[in-house]
Amino acid sequence: MVIAVAALLPVVSVTPAQALPDGLALTPPMGFNNWNTTGCAVDEQLIRDTADIFVDKGLKAAGYEYVNVDDCWAEPERDADGRLQANKARFPSGIKALADYVHSKGLKFGIYTSAGTLTCAKTMPGALDHEDVDAQAFADWGVDYLKYDNCNNQGRPALERYTKMRDALKKTGRPIVYSLCEWGENKPWTWGADVGHLWRTTGDIKDNWAKMLQILKANAPLAPYAGPGHWNDPDMLEVGNGGMTTEEYRSHFSLWAMMAAPLLIGADLRKVSPANFDVLRNAEVIALDQDRRGVQARVLSNQDGHWVFAKPLSNGDVAIALFNETTSSATIGTTAAAAGLPRSAGYTARDLWAHRDLQTAGRISAVVPPHATAVYRVHAGGPWWRNAPLVSTGVEVVPSVPGVPGEITPAGQPFEVKVSATDEARVPVFDPRVTLTAPAGWHVEQVARPRAVVLGTGETAAGRWRVTPPAGTEGTTAALRGGVSYRALGFGQVTWSGEQQLTVPAAPPLTSAFASDLRWAAEKNGYGPVERDMSNGSIPAGDGKPLTINGVVYPKGLGAHAPSEVVFYLGGRCTAFTADVGVDDEREATNKQGSATFEVYADGVKAASTGVRTWQDPAVPLAADLHGAKYLRLVVTDGGDGNSYDRSDWASARLTCG
Ligand code: GLA
Repeated sequence: MVIAVAALLPVVSVTPAQALPDGLALTPPMGFNNWNTTGCAVDEQLIRDTADIFVDKGLKAAGYEYVNVDDCWAEPERDADGRLQANKARFPSGIKALADYVHSKGLKFGIYTSAGTLTCAKTMPGALDHEDVDAQAFADWGVDYLKYDNCNNQGRPALERYTKMRDALKKTGRPIVYSLCEWGENKPWTWGADVGHLWRTTGDIKDNWAKMLQILKANAPLAPYAGPGHWNDPDMLEVGNGGMTTEEYRSHFSLWAMMAAPLLIGADLRKVSPANFDVLRNAEVIALDQDRRGVQARVLSNQDGHWVFAKPLSNGDVAIALFNETTSSATIGTTAAAAGLPRSAGYTARDLWAHRDLQTAGRISAVVPPHATAVYRVHAGGPWWRNAPLVSTGVEVVPSVPGVPGEITPAGQPFEVKVSATDEARVPVFDPRVTLTAPAGWHVEQVARPRAVVLGTGETAAGRWRVTPPAGTEGTTAALRGGVSYRALGFGQVTWSGEQQLTVPAAPPLTSAFASDLRWAAEKNGYGPVERDMSNGSIPAGDGKPLTINGVVYPKGLGAHAPSEVVFYLGGRCTAFTADVGVDDEREATNKQGSATFEVYADGVKAASTGVRTWQDPAVPLAADLHGAKYLRLVVTDGGDGNSYDRSDWASARLTCG
C-alpha cells in the first residue's frame, strides 16, 4: 500500500508560537537524564561520574551540557520549613554540593518533580501547591533545568498547574530551562510555548524498536509547533541501553536530531559500548539538531515504511534522512527540488554517518538496510564537482508475496535477489561490476547481468540472481552478501559490500495445529514479544496471564499487542484458519481502555477481518479460507486511537492442514 503524505499529516495551520522571552533553549537542550537506565536507583556518584565522562570523553565538547536527575532524589518528607530534602542514603552530600560539582566542570545541573501531590514513583512529594518554595529551593541550589512531571495531579487543569510553576521559577530570577512532562495529554504543543521551553508529546519511551517507532510516528506530525525556545520532546534517548542494535540506535539518534528533539542521553555512560558512544558523539548529526534555525524535519514521504525526512538548515543546506522502518533492504530516495533546495547544476550531499562529501546531480538515494537511516546534508552549488559521485549501492531481495517480508525465503523455493549500483552524480562512473555470495550449498543462478561499461546520471547497473535455499535449512537464518565495484575519475576503484539477512522458515505444518504450537517465520509486536498461550504482559517474554476475553479464559492462542504482525509459512498445505479474537482483560479493571482490529491475510489477500474491537467487547469468531496459500499473516492494528493497552488475543487460533 502506498500512503500519500497528505493523508498522514493532519492539516494544521499554526500561528508561529511565541517562545518565552528569556532566551533559553534557543536550540534543543542536550545532556543526560538517569531515568532510562536506573529508574529510582539513582545516586550522586552516577551524576558525578556522568559529569566527568562528559568532559573526559568529548561529550561536553560535542554540546552535551545538562546533567539531570530524575525521580526519587528526595526524602518522602519535607523539612520543618517545608523544603524538600535530598535522599540521605543516595545523595549524602546534598543537591547543592552536587550542582556545584557539575558546575565546576563547566556543565549545568537539572532536577525533577511533578505537578502533583507526589511524583510518579510516589517516593517523594510533588510540587503542587508548593511551587514557590520548591522553585526557590531549586534556584538556591543552583538548578539550571527542571523536568516537571504530571503524576498525582488531583485532576486539576494542566495549564493552570504548569503555569504556576513557570511563574514560580521566574520569580526566583534564576534562568532555568523548564521542561513540561505532560505526556501530550492536553496537546501541550498548542499552549506550551509560552509556558515552558519543551513539552513531552507522548508517554514514556522504552528501550525497544517498537516503542521508539511509535513515538517517532506521534512526534513527526507535530513539526509545525517546534522552534527556538519551544520544542517538541519525544522523550529521552535510549542509545546505549542494549535493547536495540547499534544500527537501530543510529536511526533513533538520527531521527531525534532531524526532529530537533532534546538530546538527553539515557544510558549509564560508564557502561556504553564504544560503537554506541560514537553514535552519541556524531558531531555532524548533532549539528542538525542544534541548527539555530530550529526547524523540525518534515516528512516528505512514507511509502510502506520507507521514509524521507527533510530539515532546512540556517545556512540554506537541507538535511535529508532516508529511514527504512522495514526488515528488508530498500531503495529510498528523493530530489533536491522536493527537499526545497534551489536549482543547481550539482549538489554536495555529505553522508553524515560515513563523513564523506559526495556529488549528485539532484537525486539523493540510498539502498537503506533494514531499520537503518542514511542522513545527508545537502548543499546547492559549488564545489560539488570535487566530490566523489554519489552511487547508491545495495543488495535487495525482490519481494514475491505482497505484505510478506522478502527476506523470508523457504527451503526449496527460488527467490530473486538484486545487487545494484545507481549513479546519481553529474559525472559517469565506469566498469560497474556486481557480485552475490550465498551460503555454501545454496543454489544460485544469475539471471541478469549489467551490460553497460559506463553509467551516466540516473543509470543503474543491476545483477539479478535466482537463489534457492536447499532442503535441510528449515528454521535457520543466513546472510546474502552483495558486492559492487566501479571506477570514478579521480577516485580510482571504488568498492562496496553489504549484507541482507534471510530467514528460512520452519517446514510447513503437516497436520492441523494450534498456531501457538507452531514456529512462525516473522513477528512484530507493539510491546514486548507476541506470547504463546498467554496474554502480552509487559516487555519481558513469558510474563503474561491466561488469555482472557470478557471473562472467558482460553488455554491456547497468541497474546499480541497492537501494532502486531505474525507470519506463518504454510507452503500451500493448510485450508483454514479459525480463532476467537478480542482485546484481553489483562489491564481492563484499572484502565478501561484498549481497542484493536484483527486482520487475516492469505498471501496478499485479506481473507477475514473484524471492525474495531474494544476492551468491553466479547470475543468474535474469525474464519479464513487458506486453500493454496503459501503464507498466513495475522495483523492487529491499534483501532485508530494509538496503541495504549491494546493487548489483543488470537484465542484458540488454529490451522487446519494436511
Ligand atoms: C514519568 C515520566 C518519566 C519519568 C518517570 C519518573 O513516567 O514520564 O519520564 O520521569 O515518570 O517516575
